[in-house]
Amino acid sequence: MSRLPAWLDWMTRARPGEATLRTVRPGDAEALARLHAQSFRIGWDAAEFERLIANRLTRGLVATDGPGGMPVGFILLSGVAPEMEILSVAVDSRRRGAGLGRRLVEAAFGTLAAEGYRTVFLEVEDGNAAALKLYARTGFREIGRRPGYYRNGAGAPVAALTMRRDIA
Ligand SMILES: CC(C)(COP(=O)(O)OP(=O)(O)OC[C@H]1O[C@@H](n2cnc3c(N)ncnc32)[C@H](O)[C@@H]1OP(=O)(O)O)[C@@H](O)C(=O)NCCC(=O)NCCS
Repeated sequence: MSRLPAWLDWMTRARPGEATLRTVRPGDAEALARLHAQSFRIGWDAAEFERLIANRLTRGLVATDGPGGMPVGFILLSGVAPEMEILSVAVDSRRRGAGLGRRLVEAAFGTLAAEGYRTVFLEVEDGNAAALKLYARTGFREIGRRPGYYRNGAGAPVAALTMRRDIA
């Protein structure tokens, strides 16, 4: 996602009060680590985000509070065309439920289609209601289940669902 094409730039442009979307940059690592830590039990640190962002197979979008503002959400993906995998998507806990997760996923599809990617996979913890709704809304369907793949907060085994969406 080197630069957003003009039509996608228009599509992802913020309406008043909405977050702005842009491609991820190396300088985002600290902020993405903070968002990740408040979203997942096992957080990825800034060094891990630096490594991911620098990887040539990584694509990502960041939602900021206005142009030049602080990141309030992100999506990171990795893969080799025609297949892509969502590595992580997270929205600031104070900004959830307002459509930002959906904007990030749909905008990522737009850029991926333009780059020749055709299929996106992901893995999600069974019972993550917000994520499951987000993925259902953005056209993903379950294609597999790995029982006991994750541990929940109490240490009990939880399945990982594998999901797929084809990009038209
Ligand atoms: C998953 C996450 C990214 C969704 O972001 P968001 O900005 O709140 O999502 P949206 O507002 O775009 O909502 C998308 C859909 O999910 C629904 N939704 C949002 N939060 C929900 C919740 N807690 N429970 C049930 N549905 C929920 C919305 O209503 C919307 O559906 P609709 O179009 O039918 O109304 C966000 O909750 C988050 O960061 N969670 C922690 C990290 C995480 O779990 N990431 C996914 C790991 S695979």
